[in-house]
Amino acid sequence: MRVAAILTAAGSGSRLGASGPKALVALAGVPLVVRAARALLASGQVEHLVVTAPADQVAVMEHVLSSATPPVIAEVVAGGATRQASVAAGIARIVAWADGATETDGPGDETRSVVLVHDAARPLVPEAVVRRVISAVEAGHDAVIPGLAVTDTVKQVEQGVARSITGAEADGRAPLGGPALVDILRVVATPDRSTLRAVQTPQGFALDLLRRAHEAGASRAADEASAATDDAALVEALGIDVWVVAGHEDALKVTTPRDLALAEILLAGS
Ligand code: CTP
Ligand code: MG
Repeated sequence: MRVAAILTAAGSGSRLGASGPKALVALAGVPLVVRAARALLASGQVEHLVVTAPADQVAVMEHVLSSATPPVIAEVVAGGATRQASVAAGIARIVAWADGATETDGPGDETRSVVLVHDAARPLVPEAVVRRVISAVEAGHDAVIPGLAVTDTVKQVEQGVARSITGAEADGRAPLGGPALVDILRVVATPDRSTLRAVQTPQGFALDLLRRAHEAGASRAADEASAATDDAALVEALGIDVWVVAGHEDALKVTTPRDLALAEILLAGS
């Protein structure tokens, strides 16, 4: 089995609010994208790495990766408008790599290719999680994702009907210093928490399945409102089983400045 990986790093990081792309933000001196790449490569099983970069930052990304110590060997490709579009751009390169590798092997020596899709925004994923995902795909599960049981009770709310009321209406008291606004939403369901998992990356797939899933869902990729937020959702849409293995709390996603601070604390404690 041949393993390749796509590392998504083409986002802007609007919620982090840094001056440049989130993937290039340093966590204890090392850019998130470099840490995430090392986490994947630490498995010792990833033969080819494709990194998606913002279209105007391809050269910067190449420089950051190649000048890291030791250098990160990767093919950098321009991402798209959404994460889904960026992964699709990465898949095209992985398919080309897998086809080239098959040619070298010669006819009749078809090897099953596996692709991991990982977010640069998850720089601290433990090697054990990467290995677990690869092992489960190797064992014949064509779509495998790491997940954690949720500790909060999760409510489903009505969509698009947020109503703003003043603080005074909300708690029956006159608001201090003017009418504070409170967004309020109606709850429609409480899914049984024991059946929920908060999912992480890397997600692992048989390459052929991931390619098909992205092809089938391609019309969703152009804007954030319709795009899949993870690759497994596109496989589910084909009606094909997706399997969950244990994730890890250290694989947290760096989204806000608070997450970055938390990641720094985790690193300092490790
Ligand atoms: N990503 C990508 N291409 C995009 C958007 C996101 O490759 N067009 C990547 C990000 O770089 C990140 C991962 O997908 O590694 C998860 O996305 P998210 O955490 O939402 O990152 P950003 O989109 O950069 O952040 P924000 O949504 O706050 O702008
Ligand atoms: Mg985003």
